[in-house]
Amino acid sequence: MGLLDGKVCIVTGAGRGIGRDHALALASRGARVVVNDPGVAVDGKGGDSAPAEQVVDEIKAAGGQAVANFADVSDWKQAGALVQQAWDEWGQLDVLLNNAGILRDRIIWKMTEDDWDAVMGVHMKGTYSCTHHAVVRWRDTFKQTDRPVNGRIINTVSGAMFGSVGQSNYGAAKAGIMGFTLGVALEVAPMGITCNAIRPGGQTRMSASIPSTGAIAQMRAARSGEEPEKDENAPATFGSELATYLASDAAAWISGQLLMIRGDRLELDRGWHAERVLTHRGGKPWTAEDLVAGMPKLVGTGPVGLIEFLGH
Ligand SMILES: NC(=O)c1ccc[n+]([C@@H]2O[C@H](COP(=O)([O-])OP(=O)(O)OC[C@H]3O[C@@H](n4cnc5c(N)ncnc54)[C@H](O)[C@@H]3O)[C@@H](O)[C@H]2O)c1
Repeated sequence: MGLLDGKVCIVTGAGRGIGRDHALALASRGARVVVNDPGVAVDGKGGDSAPAEQVVDEIKAAGGQAVANFADVSDWKQAGALVQQAWDEWGQLDVLLNNAGILRDRIIWKMTEDDWDAVMGVHMKGTYSCTHHAVVRWRDTFKQTDRPVNGRIINTVSGAMFGSVGQSNYGAAKAGIMGFTLGVALEVAPMGITCNAIRPGGQTRMSASIPSTGAIAQMRAARSGEEPEKDENAPATFGSELATYLASDAAAWISGQLLMIRGDRLELDRGWHAERVLTHRGGKPWTAEDLVAGMPKLVGTGPVGLIEFLGH
């Protein structure tokens, strides 16, 4: 018995890297997988059917079931057809794993409108489009049967959303996906659908594309804590065991969370809570003038707050 026997999963961007590992991990636990990948370059350009087809072949060679799909998830209609393919092929969808991603790293003063739109398109609109189309179908089923549909949405974010030099577009998209995850988790809970985010990673062509020389690399090196921790035991990519668990019936109770696994480290990430609160003397409303003295008390003394923030 596999943890995912009988399930049908869509993995976007599953032709390479982390998505490929997700697809193989889900299939190895008994899931039937729609392997989506248009085979684009790391910047989102071009296209090739080979990556998705190869992963399908790998799954089949190992005795599993898979079909290829070449949709660009940032295209509304193609995302709809991707979701439809799961129903056409196997008459159901249980898990949507939004993993597809591209990079257009540029320092903000060199970032073009196209660099911004392309990254937002694949990460944010792609996650939204596939999720919307999946939830429409799940909601129809819920209304017809009046029973929880046991659906799973797993979104992909990154440490870049905490701030990363040269990745303001990518970090913004990932932070946006996190906000999206929290909102959708609330909306779909009554239908028995969970929505979580994972923070995977590893040695992929995407991580290899991040420059090690030049202005961005120098600014990154100047920041403490930007270098990932070295972990000899960590696999080449990480996150697929966590995705497999979140896809399973065992994870029906967990939603609206950001989780990470890296080797032996299992992490729950939470942020944007009130870290410190300063109440104005006598319950007076804060004014801009009061903040001149009040703000350093809240953030730290003088410029220390800014230095703390920049990580110097
Ligand atoms: N590699 C890391 O260290 C790391 C860290 C944190 C988060 N992530 C995230 O993990 C995910 C996978 O990244 P990866 O490192 O495996 O990258 P990758 O470049 O190896 O693979 C990404 C895949 O997504 C596909 N893709 C791109 N645009 C698409 C589109 N419009 N529609 C469908 N598929 C598309 C590509 O063809 C490619 O096969 C991304 O969301 C990335 O942001 C990666």
